[in-house]
Amino acid sequence: MDAYPYPVARIGIIGGGQLGRMMVKAAKRLGCTCVVLDPTPGSPAGQVAGHQIVGAYHDPARLRELAESCDVTTFDIEDIDTDTLVELEREGRSIHPSPRLLADIQDKLRQKRLLAAAGIPTAGFVEVEGDKRAAFSRFGYPLVQKARRGGYDGRGVAVLKSEADFDAYLPVPSLVERFVPAEKELAVLVARGRDGDTRCYPVVEMRFRPGQNVLDLLLAPAQIPPEIAVAARELAVRTVHALGGVGIFGIELFLTADGSLLVNEVAPRTHNSGHYTIEACITDQFEQHLRAILGLPLGATDLLCPAAMINLLGAPGHGGRPIIRGMAAALAIPGVCLHIYGKAATTPFRKMGHVTVLDRDLDAAREKAERVLALLEITGEDHP
Ligand SMILES: Nc1ncnc2c1ncn2[C@@H]1O[C@H](COP(=O)(O)OP(=O)(O)OP(=O)(O)O)[C@@H](O)[C@H]1O
Ligand SMILES: [Mg+2]
Repeated sequence: MDAYPYPVARIGIIGGGQLGRMMVKAAKRLGCTCVVLDPTPGSPAGQVAGHQIVGAYHDPARLRELAESCDVTTFDIEDIDTDTLVELEREGRSIHPSPRLLADIQDKLRQKRLLAAAGIPTAGFVEVEGDKRAAFSRFGYPLVQKARRGGYDGRGVAVLKSEADFDAYLPVPSLVERFVPAEKELAVLVARGRDGDTRCYPVVEMRFRPGQNVLDLLLAPAQIPPEIAVAARELAVRTVHALGGVGIFGIELFLTADGSLLVNEVAPRTHNSGHYTIEACITDQFEQHLRAILGLPLGATDLLCPAAMINLLGAPGHGGRPIIRGMAAALAIPGVCLHIYGKAATTPFRKMGHVTVLDRDLDAAREKAERVLALLEITGEDHP
């Protein structure tokens, strides 16, 4: 029989945001303790862990302090000093997913090259070199320019429909890719264990608010024909096998009108599109990630109930200590599961929480989620 002492493992988490917070909760359930590295004292994850190292994700000394005080180190963000992590791994520290893979993925150009080399279908792309205006015309419009590093929630993405949009270009090292006229944006979470075993979650559908790239509404399962769902899962698993990492991966996909699937990008971590798994799946994405990096058996990914999820974003024009308006009214709706992330201050469009709505009928879940979105508002004390 196997036996584990308590605590089962001390887990280091680089990044103290909401993903880390939900991971810490899952870790505690499994009998683990956590240390969080984040520059903001009292970060969302640090509050729950009870132990935080205050420091930057690019500070070699703090990264070392974290990895050396933990059995396994992981992350909830991508913008980390990977050189230090590679060094720590070489010294025998257990870090998952591998820092080398993180280095490839955090650079969108290297990520695309890796996917293309593995035969994974993606939008055609080239590196932007020299004069941007000339490079873009050579490539042809419509195009999507992406910052190589540091983008998230669409902040490193410029969609340029024609040369008239050129002034919206990003003045940073970047790539351009073909604009994909996607019918739907899908996501599939895949966990890969230390032994190479994988578990794949249901295909979900992501809807974005026009003009903003933050996920607006998530539907689980995606409303797509069964054969497309099978193909999407197969492609996601193939992608994760090609990358070869350990942990959970969020694979973002485009579905086009002719039924073809393209991989948009890979997140080497838990994903916003997987928050619904906390209530709607047998094993949630956070526990699954921990099982993978700890070398424990992976859990079942079955969907127990259809779900719709919305993000709660800070209201425009508001800042300071958050005020959650409409909370009681939202909680009065059956099937509403509210998550507040514990961020000390709100800013416009900041992710402050999310709501998952469970309902046997997905249309009813969506309708309730839309009602909740209209009811709930995160304003701030500093509103003028
Ligand atoms: N080639 C493309 N064609 C059409 N739309 C695209 C393309 N690439 C990206 N987009 C749109 O921009 C959004 C954000 O792009 P991407 O996922 O690459 O960036 P991101 O900043 O990493 O976003 P996030 O952190 O929200 O995942 C996509 O979800 C999609 O709506
Ligand atoms: Mg994305």
